[in-house]
Amino acid sequence: MGQLVYLNGRLTARDEANVSIYDHGFLYGDGAFEGIRVYGGNIFRLREHVVRLLRSARALDIALGLTEAEIISAIAETARANHHTTGYIRVTVSRGDGLGLDPSHLTSKATIVISTEQLSLYPKEMYETGLTVITASTRVPPACCIDPQIKSLGRYVNNIMAKMEANRVGAGEALMLNMEGNVAEATGDNLFVVLGGVLVTPPTSQGALPGITRATVIECAEEIGIPFRESTVTLYDCYNADEAFLTGTAAEVIPMVRLDGRSIGGGAPGSTTVRLIEAFRRRTTVEGVRV
Ligand SMILES: Cc1ncc(COP(=O)(O)O)c(C=O)c1O
Repeated sequence: MGQLVYLNGRLTARDEANVSIYDHGFLYGDGAFEGIRVYGGNIFRLREHVVRLLRSARALDIALGLTEAEIISAIAETARANHHTTGYIRVTVSRGDGLGLDPSHLTSKATIVISTEQLSLYPKEMYETGLTVITASTRVPPACCIDPQIKSLGRYVNNIMAKMEANRVGAGEALMLNMEGNVAEATGDNLFVVLGGVLVTPPTSQGALPGITRATVIECAEEIGIPFRESTVTLYDCYNADEAFLTGTAAEVIPMVRLDGRSIGGGAPGSTTVRLIEAFRRRTTVEGVRV
């Protein structure tokens, strides 16, 4: 049987899994999403992703009509139905169908889609050689506009613009600054730097998504005894860092060795980064909800 997609409570053949042209996610970016990884038959940090999805939905005041446990089992059921033991799971929700901004005119409940995908963001060798990154001119919006802690669909227009800036100059990623000029994160990843032996990442209040890979890496640092603090990170800090790397479900943990034409550290992945990559990979082999 071909691939199945969970669409509003039913597993549907992928070719027939269509949403309305009036879907608010399509019309206005009025929705939220999650990207989740499956490693060796285990769905990594599934509960954490579902909690973040529910928080995004609550902040947007979208009623999903499903409990945390129901969403978890819908995701696991979709992965199981597709024998999806390694890869990516995309969960997308929107407010529902209706032409016009006013949510009181919606003609349906929230749209909920779960699909299983194969994904490889960067070539394998880049995890050994590291990534070239630029700083985008596109900024992360302040929380008073659309809070970057919400993994909302609409927010990503900005990130796509920043990613296009990176593409235009052949860079692998773009860092995004907040309105104060401090580094918030990259277009689809959180940023870590190593400064004087201390691992540092910007707090989410600087405009960073509360990344699940970020949280895992912080746990790994604690486990292997690497000093860590959350603190404002400037471009000056990045240019002068001993090491830097990005974290995200899709990118996993990837070294950042050049930024805006400058080499970071020795221009190669540093020892702290390598230890954290190993610790992260170990966790992905032992943790997770069985498919
Ligand atoms: C803007 C942004 N920042 C950070 C991340 C990393 O978050 P996570 O590790 O939960 O995938 C993502 C990916 O979801 C993202 O889109």
